[in-house]
Amino acid sequence: DNKIIIAIDGYSSSGKSSMARALASSIGYRYVDSGAMYRAVTLWGLRRGIVSDGTVDEEALIAALPDIAIDFQPIPGEGQHTLLCGEDVESEIRSLRVSDNVSQVAVIPAVRHHLVALQQQFGREKGIVMDGRDIGTTVFPDAEMKVFVDASAETRAHRRFLELQQKGMEATYEDVLANVKQRDHIDTTRAESPLTKASDAISLDNSDMTIAEQNEWLIELYNRIL
Ligand code: C5P
Repeated sequence: DNKIIIAIDGYSSSGKSSMARALASSIGYRYVDSGAMYRAVTLWGLRRGIVSDGTVDEEALIAALPDIAIDFQPIPGEGQHTLLCGEDVESEIRSLRVSDNVSQVAVIPAVRHHLVALQQQFGREKGIVMDGRDIGTTVFPDAEMKVFVDASAETRAHRRFLELQQKGMEATYEDVLANVKQRDHIDTTRAESPLTKASDAISLDNSDMTIAEQNEWLIELYNRIL
């Protein structure tokens, strides 16, 4: 059969994860959230004091990488949950504490190499939708379908704020906007595979699109590429 690899990259809280998850479920592909993997490594470090308030003990974190087991568990009707050494950390990795520290962890080349190798393993049999920052450029440069999602920082912060509120997590809109802007900056200016649109990726600005319109757009593109 002709299963392909689909790479969906973009800024934080651009809605790319929801789009990627919905697309994967409509076409019967596996979905992998690469950001969740960086978040899980960050949580592991935070719990041990190796990561705190934007500083990272790089040496300790790099030494621990082989012990930081990350996997995904399908949850019927809910997509999947992220497992850290077998523990379901899906909601904890979305906290502002993790969001505030994850970009500092994601700049470390050894962390990236480790996770990129793992991500490539997930894609070995194709039939996968992966979302992140460097999927179309670094993880799967030969992906058959590449999408780059964008929306204004304010639109994205507003979405993230509503999401956190729904989950009962405390945060102000100003804090969330500051976090979104700070992550944009770190993600686009880091030396190792910075967030950038692959030259063969198709751009989508979803600021004024409903979820249904975004899904339709993706499926249309998928059918055209297939
Ligand atoms: O997608 P999400 O916002 O959950 O990603 C969290 C963080 O992980 C990003 O801000 C970025 O620093 C990092 N990341 C990355 N490369 C990826 C996915 C995420 O550097 N492929």
